[in-house]
Amino acid sequence: MERFGAKATKAAQAHSKAKMAESLKAELPVIEAEHKTVSFKFTCSRESGAAPLVLKRCSAGYGERVVLSNIDLEIHRGDKVAIVGPNGAGKSTLLKLLAGMIKPVSGEMILGHNAELRYFGQHQLEQLDGEATLYDTVAAHSASSDRTYIRNALGAFLFSGSAVDKKVKTLSGGEKSRLALATILASPGNVLLLDEPTNHLDIASIETLSESMASYAGTILFVSHDEYFISRLAARIIEVRPMRLRDFPGNLADYRYYVDKLFKEQDEAVTNKKSKSTPSANAVDEKETRIREREEKKKRDRETSKLELEIAKKEALIAEQESILNDPENALKYESLHAASEAIGALKKELDELMEKWVELGQ
Ligand SMILES: Nc1ncnc2c1ncn2[C@@H]1O[C@H](COP(=O)(O)OP(=O)(O)O)[C@@H](O)[C@H]1O
Ligand SMILES: [Mg+2]
Repeated sequence: MERFGAKATKAAQAHSKAKMAESLKAELPVIEAEHKTVSFKFTCSRESGAAPLVLKRCSAGYGERVVLSNIDLEIHRGDKVAIVGPNGAGKSTLLKLLAGMIKPVSGEMILGHNAELRYFGQHQLEQLDGEATLYDTVAAHSASSDRTYIRNALGAFLFSGSAVDKKVKTLSGGEKSRLALATILASPGNVLLLDEPTNHLDIASIETLSESMASYAGTILFVSHDEYFISRLAARIIEVRPMRLRDFPGNLADYRYYVDKLFKEQDEAVTNKKSKSTPSANAVDEKETRIREREEKKKRDRETSKLELEIAKKEALIAEQESILNDPENALKYESLHAASEAIGALKKELDELMEKWVELGQ
């Protein structure tokens, strides 16, 4: 802000940086305070068979509206699958189909031997009983009736003390998500189907969830737009596009590499045959381009937020070191003072580099 405030072209960015700094400052202590979560693992029930979920030439939708058509899919025990794709493509429909909440219009959905499914999604949040307490909600589904076990499951999602005796109807949307996840945690089956589980979650809860999911021995399929979450957990990516699926046996980085390559090839093909392309082919190309531009913008936005978080963290570290320098108690502790000013020098250099990147992204 100090550096760019004077330059007209950068003033707007400096201003938004100032606003960002304010909002981050307001948020930071909350993150600190909520960081003390109880660690608790999703301990899988008995193992499922080798293929807990199989779709054979399956079509599904709502009444006349077919969303998924003729899908073949085999999920293997232990798969960690991220389901990605644009809004409205059918990601939630796919999960609901796998969860048995909607029936296929044609084809087969085969539930494997000993598969015990747990579904998290909007529908399930709406089903929570408003009059029940948080404790009773988890207890009703828990694999154990032990009080400490149930309290730990709640504690992992930041409900502790007398909060567990509140009624569900008093909860916010984000709190309901946490409660539903705590309920699954207390009885995690061996196949998790999670539809956008990180929506409305605070950073500490996202961390708890991804930690628990990373150590889960069962099968996981989850819909998410959260890049951190996907890259941390997924070893297989299923991309849902209107009426078709693409299955990538790899992680997010592999998937991105493939998609970039695909778009590049398409770009080259478009340039090569632009003069003779038919209007309808053009429309398809334009649509792909729009999708890509939107995806690029989203990617840039995500990178910007990530950078802003890193910048805030560096600034906090610098402030910490500066407070050591400024503390009268340290006035004669030359070694500490030296170490602090060295650290500040290094941190400021890193901060400068982050700021440069941030400015570049905003252009
Ligand atoms: N209950 C429903 N009744 C009718 N149409 C629906 C229903 N739920 C979803 N759809 C439609 O099905 C399509 C796929 O929706 P959905 O699976 O929710 O997409 P996504 O989760 O990928 O955003 C959308 O066009 C949506 O409007
Ligand atoms: Mg959805």
